[in-house]
Amino acid sequence: MRKIIIRNEEDTKNFGHELAAKLKPNDVVALIGDLGTGKTTLTKYIAEGLGVTERITSPTFTTVCEYHSGRLPLYHFDVYRVTDPEVLFEIGAEEYFYAGGVSIVEWADMVAEILPEETICIFIEYGEKEGERIYQCTF
Ligand SMILES: Nc1ncnc2c1ncn2[C@@H]1O[C@H](COP(=O)(O)OP(=O)(O)O)[C@@H](O)[C@H]1O
Ligand SMILES: [Mg+2]
Repeated sequence: MRKIIIRNEEDTKNFGHELAAKLKPNDVVALIGDLGTGKTTLTKYIAEGLGVTERITSPTFTTVCEYHSGRLPLYHFDVYRVTDPEVLFEIGAEEYFYAGGVSIVEWADMVAEILPEETICIFIEYGEKEGERIYQCTF
């Protein structure tokens, strides 16, 4: 796994923009890390890199938010409140994954069993200094 030291939010932004440039239809990006490690923040920068002009809001209560203004459709999931993966079948998560857009899933470790095998995983941990984060990536 590739390990990246993120020093501050500017590094998160650059990482998000670079990843966005590489994303293809049907890519699924799993963001795994504790509360406050920056999953939503990274999602905002990936969205920005895709050219999404709508404001990104946290889909904590709706589970999924869709954005169609970018280079590819973006489906942003936050499954923190999903205690039963069955709920994801009900909202059609798998249809989203293969709908030709990019899916980003916060707290993806909670629904690991429904993620496609080729899912891009980013594990995020706090670093020692304020603003620092450690990314471990499977791509
Ligand atoms: N390097 C960094 N990357 C992302 N967010 C950072 C970073 N440094 C500080 N932050 C701050 O940490 C918080 C992360 O919150 P958020 O993105 O909502 O986390 P999560 O979705 O993982 O709970 C934001 O207030 C953000 O400004
Ligand atoms: Mg979040």
